[in-house]
Amino acid sequence: MSTWLVTGAHGFLGSNAGAFLEGKAETVGQVRTGSAATTFTASAELDLTDAASVSALIQSIQPSVIFHAAAMSSHETCEQDPAGAMLVNATATASLAKAASSCGALMVYVSTDAVFDGSRGSYAETDVANPFSVYGQSKLAGEDAVRAATDHHLILRTNFFGWSPSGTRSILEFFVNGFRSRSQMTGYTDFTVTSIYVQQLLSATAALVERGSTGTFHVASHDALSKFEFGRTVAKTFALDASLLHPGDSTAADHSTSRNRDLSLSTAKLESVLGYPSPSQAEGIATAYDNEAALTGRLRGKGAGA
Ligand SMILES: NC(=O)c1ccc[n+]([C@@H]2O[C@H](COP(=O)([O-])OP(=O)(O)OC[C@H]3O[C@@H](n4cnc5c(N)ncnc54)[C@H](OP(=O)(O)O)[C@@H]3O)[C@@H](O)[C@H]2O)c1
Repeated sequence: MSTWLVTGAHGFLGSNAGAFLEGKAETVGQVRTGSAATTFTASAELDLTDAASVSALIQSIQPSVIFHAAAMSSHETCEQDPAGAMLVNATATASLAKAASSCGALMVYVSTDAVFDGSRGSYAETDVANPFSVYGQSKLAGEDAVRAATDHHLILRTNFFGWSPSGTRSILEFFVNGFRSRSQMTGYTDFTVTSIYVQQLLSATAALVERGSTGTFHVASHDALSKFEFGRTVAKTFALDASLLHPGDSTAADHSTSRNRDLSLSTAKLESVLGYPSPSQAEGIATAYDNEAALTGRLRGKGAGA
């Protein structure tokens, strides 16, 4: 079995990666404190801004794949701490990519649709990035650091939903929790993305790794939905009361970075390499519905969560 180092193992994506890879690969889950969930083969406790520790860990594990899911991932936190955002999202990424290069590992960097400005949508890998936020700037700087350190990389621009260790991390959980507690909710009609179910993102990633693909890919659902349309689809799939959801305008909300954008990604390159279509968001929501009981138990089991 190959060995994958998964950074950010307590996070939304990192914890899902541990569950996805269980039985398929040896996995070391990097966490800042405590230990990774029992879905991981082993844990490594360190802060990724400590370059010497990063290098020592990678030399000792000799992973075949570094799946870099750790980040300062909130737009708001990055706006408040731009230097911290660059340190975690760009400088620490550079350390990992250099260490990956020195041991021959494939560096998989999880980037974001927020490298684009959202004025148009349907972005291809060849389109010019123009981030609208500190978060997007720092993630784009992370992409550049990876490209500079090693050609043996995958840069995956994405946006995803699913189940998280906390139960509150994702847009899917926002709507499911809200419908189940009978809360009145607003779904933005002016914020559009091609979000993909996180386990489908991991499946596409594994398929790219399996094929030996390298370079930059947009890994997303094939259809764009507004947050309002996404919420309506959640209500229908989970048989919950859609009348609790109201259409609204994101510019009325108090966000430090405005959300009225079309950040949809074209999946044409991914589909041509994999030879099959990306799922629709409705298909992803349906799979998440089917997975809920089994997956949330594994994500929230012993050792999971910070
Ligand atoms: N969520 C989305 O829809 C989305 C969309 C596009 C791209 N992405 C990208 O996908 C990746 C995963 O996102 P996510 O939603 O899973 O984020 P998340 O839940 O916030 O998890 C991020 C993880 O990074 C860890 N981390 C932060 N700073 C660290 C440091 N200095 N050293 C070590 N670990 C550190 C955190 O550790 P602690 O647990 O100790 O805080 C946390 O476990 C990120 O690269 C993000 O930019 C996410």
